[in-house]
Parts: sequence; C-alpha cells; structure tokens
Amino acid sequence: MATENQSAEQAGRAPLRVKVARVIEETADARSFVLDVSDESLRHELTYRAGQYVTVEIPWEAFHIHRCYSFSSAPGVDAQPQFTVKRVADGRMSNALIDGVKAGDTLTLHPPAGRFVLDRDAGTRPLSLFAGGSGITPIFALLKTTLRETERPVRLLYANRDAASTIFAAQLDALAREHAGRFTLRHHHDDAAGFLTAGALAEWLGSAPEGGRQSDHYVCGPTPFMDAVEAALKTAGVDAARVRVERFVSPADPDRRDTDLAVSLGVPPNAESPADFLVTLGAAIKRVPYTSPLTLLQACKAAGVKAPSSCEDGFCGSCMCQLVEGDVAMANPLALTDNDVARGRVLACQARPTSATFLHVDFDAVDFRAGDGAGMTPPINPARAALVLGLCVGAAVLVRWLHAVI
Ligand SMILES: Cc1cc2nc3c(=O)[nH]c(=O)nc-3n(C[C@H](O)[C@H](O)[C@H](O)COP(=O)(O)OP(=O)(O)OC[C@H]3O[C@@H](n4cnc5c(N)ncnc54)[C@H](O)[C@@H]3O)c2cc1C
Ligand code: FES
Repeated sequence: MATENQSAEQAGRAPLRVKVARVIEETADARSFVLDVSDESLRHELTYRAGQYVTVEIPWEAFHIHRCYSFSSAPGVDAQPQFTVKRVADGRMSNALIDGVKAGDTLTLHPPAGRFVLDRDAGTRPLSLFAGGSGITPIFALLKTTLRETERPVRLLYANRDAASTIFAAQLDALAREHAGRFTLRHHHDDAAGFLTAGALAEWLGSAPEGGRQSDHYVCGPTPFMDAVEAALKTAGVDAARVRVERFVSPADPDRRDTDLAVSLGVPPNAESPADFLVTLGAAIKRVPYTSPLTLLQACKAAGVKAPSSCEDGFCGSCMCQLVEGDVAMANPLALTDNDVARGRVLACQARPTSATFLHVDFDAVDFRAGDGAGMTPPINPARAALVLGLCVGAAVLVRWLHAVI
C-alpha cells in the first residue's frame, strides 16, 4: 500500500483521529468498536453507506500497518458508526484491537470506502445474502438498511462453527421475528450439520423465488465458504453480474512483501513504458509524467493528481478507472470481476504500462463514483448506449489530437 514504511500523513492522505465510544463483546473472539462522532465535521468525514468499510492504521515495529473493517452499523438505523473485528490466530491488527483498544482510546482511521453496497435502482428485486463467520459484518449492515428502507424480500444463509461463535445471533433472530414473511434467516452450524455442502447450498437456492436467478446476491466469508457459494450460484444459473463478493484479505505489510520484483509488479521484464500518460479526472484531462516501475496511481500522486484510492493493494476497487487506450498489466487485481475486465476497467494502484504505446485512463467513466452501486444496474438502453459510444469515440479522437499538439 502507500505503506512502504510511510504513515498515512507521509503518504499524503488525510487520516482521521476518532475516539472509541464503546467496545462491545459480541462473542468470545469478536468485538464491536463504536465510534464517537459527536463532532459535526468528523461525522461528515465518516459518512458511509451500508456495506462499506473503514481502514484502521496502527504503528507496527518500524512501519505502519493498515487493515479494512466493515461497518456492522447501518446509517439511518444505528445512531453511531461501529465496526466489528474477529480475532485471527497470530493476526497483527485483530489481536492488537481486541486486546488493546478500550473506550476513550483514539484510533487512526481512513475515510469509508468500498463497493459492496446496495444497488439504488434495485426496486423490489429480492436480496439474497450469504455470510460466513466475521463476513456477517457488512451483510448485517446491508440487511438492516434493506429492511428499514425498502420493501425487498430478503434471505440470509449464515454459516458458523457453532452457536457460541455466531456474531449478532440474537439481533438477527429478533429481525427475523419482526419481519417474518419478508426476511428468511437460516443458521448453519458446522458442529451440528458439518461443513456446508454443494447439496445444501443448492437446496437453499432452490427454495428461493425463481431459484435465485432474479435476486441480487451478496457473499462474504472465509475463502472456502465463498468459493462454495459462488460455485452453487453458477450451477443454479445465476448471472455473474447479479453476484457481489467482499474478500476479507490483509494487505501485505512492508516486511511481508514479495521480493521477486517481476512477480510483484506483474509486468514482463524489459517491458517498455511511455514517458507520460493522460488521465481524465473531474472532467479535466491531465498529462502525468511516468517513470518505471511506478503504478499509474503512484505516478498520479507524484504529479499531484489526486486520483481516488484507498487500500492501494488491489482489493477495494476505489482506484478503478477505464482503460481508454494503451497496454497495462496488473499485479493483484482482486477487486475486478470478470465483468469489469470485459468492460476494460483497470485498477490504477496495480496497473503499470507494458509498452510505450499512447496510454489514457479515465476515472470519470466508472459509474459507481456517481453513486449507483455499479454492477447490478438494469440493462442498457440501446439508444442511450449508441449516444454514449458516439461521445466516447469523439472524446478519444479529441484526446489523441490534444496529446499530439500539447
Ligand atoms: C474490505 C474488507 C473488509 C473487512 N472487514 C472485516 C470485518 O468487518 N471484520 C473482520 O474481522 N475482518 C475484516 N476484514 C479482514 C481484516 O482486514 C484483516 O484482514 C483481519 O482482521 C486479519 O488481520 P490481522 O492483522 O489480524 O492478521 P494478519 O497479520 O494480516 O494475518 C492474517 C493471517 O495470515 C497469517 N500471515 C499472513 N501473512 C503472513 C506472512 N507473510 N507470514 C506469516 N504469516 C502470515 C497470519 O499468521 C494470520 O494467521 C476485512 C478485510 C477487507 C479487505
Ligand atoms: S486503491 Fe484499493 S484497489 Fe486500488
């Protein structure tokens, strides 16, 4: 991340200093940290959408480490924002937070980010949620917002090792009672029923309206759980564009980074690169000088171009942009779905040029920045698409011309 031995301030970002109002013991190894946002400007800085996360920064040995934690609270439902952390064996941040942070302490946080949010245009489309273990945190927020603000029917399949380790169990059961007929909750406990099987997932999907094919699906949990759910959705014929996943991964800390340069950069050795590239951002086109092996995001930062970013490790999607022209390779594009790749989206924090060809990326072209929750929007109107395509072609011609004459 912008981490290479740097604190957030050194990296040019604006971290927030936020007091912890309360620590809630959810289970033996999970805690919720309720944030004190009584200060108006802080509350504004921490404005978030259900399903988003906040990034926590702590000093660690000679450097700083960063980890993302999803809000388990929902705006408009819960008075104060809170995130929930589950202990990971030998994990650096989770143990430091659970064992070391108490009410009244101050945390260094980076503003909310993330694309694991509800589609604002979903109407009454059914919502299908899958959570495993701590993956319940963003799912719980999505659930609360949906029940409060929409008429959508919701189903949640929630897998845990056992009843005792089930975070928010009592609150979920209460919501299921309160919204009986609209919210269907199924707990799965490995100690009683074994690991979740493909058969059990198929049976759950089979009991959904239209086999889940017209639902929006949100999946968050440990990797084997997510793999099993994604496979079941595919088998059930659910369109990949209707599936959203949130992967709970840690960025590589400076002392855990891959030292093999070719592997860590993702570009072939001796790849050529252009001397500069064009960036469309905030309705302006800027020329950014480029020096290998910087990422496009690092080059933007060096040139004072404030491109959007958060994790800088390829998993949050904040730096996503449209590759208008040129050749790039990405080291770790975890946040991109097949659909994103097919549409020519790239992650500026992971992308490096692989040839000296003219290169142009457009941050404005990525629709989720306009707040629609990208990826699950209805089919494109052909007339509008033709108009947009025409405008894009015109803009590309103009940009090439500008590049030649500037
Ligand atoms: C968008 C997003 C949202 C998230 N939301 C949540 C949430 O709501 N709640 C939550 O609890 N978590 C959440 N996470 C996960 C969280 O960010 C951390 O990944 C998690 O807390 C583990 O961090 P850690 O520092 O405790 O463990 P780490 O120090 O990152 O270690 C994790 C595990 O990997 C091992 N490990 C990793 N690298 C090495 C290495 N090089 N050498 C040896 N061992 C290694 C460790 O021993 C440990 O077992 C989220 C992640 C993302 C990306
Ligand atoms: S900043 Fe998170 S994916 Fe690039």
